Amino acid sequence: MAATWLKDAVFYEIYPQSFYDTNGDGIGDINGITEKLDYIRSLGCNALWINPCYDSPFKDAGYDVRDYKKVAPRYGTNEDIYRLFEEAHKKGVKVLLDLVPGHTSEEHPWFRESQKAEENEYSDRFIWTDFCFKGAPGFPYVGGESERSGCYILNFFKCQPALNYGFLNVTEPWQKSINSPAAMATREAIKDVMRFWLSHGCDGFRVDMAASLVKNDDEKKSGTSAIWKDVRRMLDLEFPEAAMVAEWSDPPLALRAGYDMDFCLNHPGGGYSTLMRDYYNHVYGEDPDKNNEDHSYFKKDAGGNINRFLDQYMAWYEDTKDVGYMSLITCNHDTLRPSYNLDERELKLAYATIFTFPGVPFLYYGDEIGMKYQELPSKEGGYYRTGSRTPMQWKKGDNLGFSTADAEKLYLPVDSAEDAPTVEMQENDKDSLLNTVRSILELRHNEEDLKADALLVPVCTEPDKPFVYKRGELLCAVYPAGESTEVDLGCAISGEVIFKIGDASFADGKLCMAAQSFAVIRTK
Ligand code: NOJ
Repeated sequence: MAATWLKDAVFYEIYPQSFYDTNGDGIGDINGITEKLDYIRSLGCNALWINPCYDSPFKDAGYDVRDYKKVAPRYGTNEDIYRLFEEAHKKGVKVLLDLVPGHTSEEHPWFRESQKAEENEYSDRFIWTDFCFKGAPGFPYVGGESERSGCYILNFFKCQPALNYGFLNVTEPWQKSINSPAAMATREAIKDVMRFWLSHGCDGFRVDMAASLVKNDDEKKSGTSAIWKDVRRMLDLEFPEAAMVAEWSDPPLALRAGYDMDFCLNHPGGGYSTLMRDYYNHVYGEDPDKNNEDHSYFKKDAGGNINRFLDQYMAWYEDTKDVGYMSLITCNHDTLRPSYNLDERELKLAYATIFTFPGVPFLYYGDEIGMKYQELPSKEGGYYRTGSRTPMQWKKGDNLGFSTADAEKLYLPVDSAEDAPTVEMQENDKDSLLNTVRSILELRHNEEDLKADALLVPVCTEPDKPFVYKRGELLCAVYPAGESTEVDLGCAISGEVIFKIGDASFADGKLCMAAQSFAVIRTK
């Protein structure tokens, strides 16, 4: 079972480019994160996930790694991050780095070596066909760019050649098996990277495209899972409290492969799309007519039905609750911000629900103040994602307190709206989104029944009624619609409302919820 500290963990995701700039060069840095640890702690977050902060040409915002063991100079030095680990630990904050095991940058020295005609240690570190005019059927590939006569497979963008972990079913002479020396060498190289950071004080990893390692894998991802199980064995022996969260979006597979947590991401039917935003339709235009119809659960007028989310979630939950945790997110660096379609009240209900669910929740920087998605030209391979990656809004004034650089030097422009939300503005308003996040997280930390592993039992899931769920002896209820309602829960007990947004009362088994409300009730 998972690292013990995860039971009470709440993560804060930081896109380092945009969090806090301490040296006035217009881009966030590691020291900026260290300086803001008290703020992060004040939210109730006690763990961080930092997006890739390694040396990189930044064609995909750092997901194109050039040196796995070196902090990108624009963010500072390795010493800075070791100090961050230390300071964070003193304040009870754990730090996960982003591990990108599926691909490197095309500028990584391993890849440069691999491109050479002459055979060397790295020739098979990436996946190459055996002739310059022979492509790789079924895979994106590039030919004609190397001294070596062969084409190489991509894992994502053109700048990201796929590392070679082998093929489950070998169908071509140039494909290696997963136990071949070349595939084993890649696996060991990634373990070496993990050991490097863990031994310097990092507490684990968020793993990019965790399901992508083995090619021609089967439906159950048995090849890729075997690799993660092997990694888990290494961690159990050498770093038993290290935590791993997968970007996999299939908790039954990811958690059984040895992950502590898996994200419920933005795939159709996944947690994010049905709760927060009908994102899939919006972004991929699967059915463009549907783009204006947003049935995200928390939207007041959307007629949201929790079962769209719950059918998938509960099946996964029942299957995995003894294996590991699912992670709900407010959003991440790849999605639109939740404030894109939810107003402040809707956001409060959304966050209250996410933070009272089992598993380990993740808050994306700036979502606690309702930072807005910005329409911007693409930066560093961000495309539509760029709008969710703008500088953190600390206070009114120059660059909203993010940096002392000239505005045109900033990594991305800050929100220029007159009423752009800031931390400073919301600090003193007890009903602000920021302070609501704080009070929900405080409640979560104070109540055993709201911890990651406390049981969840849905009580009322009828459309148009409040969604009521039991966490141990607590009843939680969320009701996003615009008119008040009552529901008879059929139990003769009364209870005390210990937390609410809007108005709610509970007596003799009857729950009365005002429009757009949320409540936590202690039943004993
Ligand atoms: C998923 C990451 O979240 C995303 O930002 C990145 O572009 C791709 N993986 C490729 O590494």
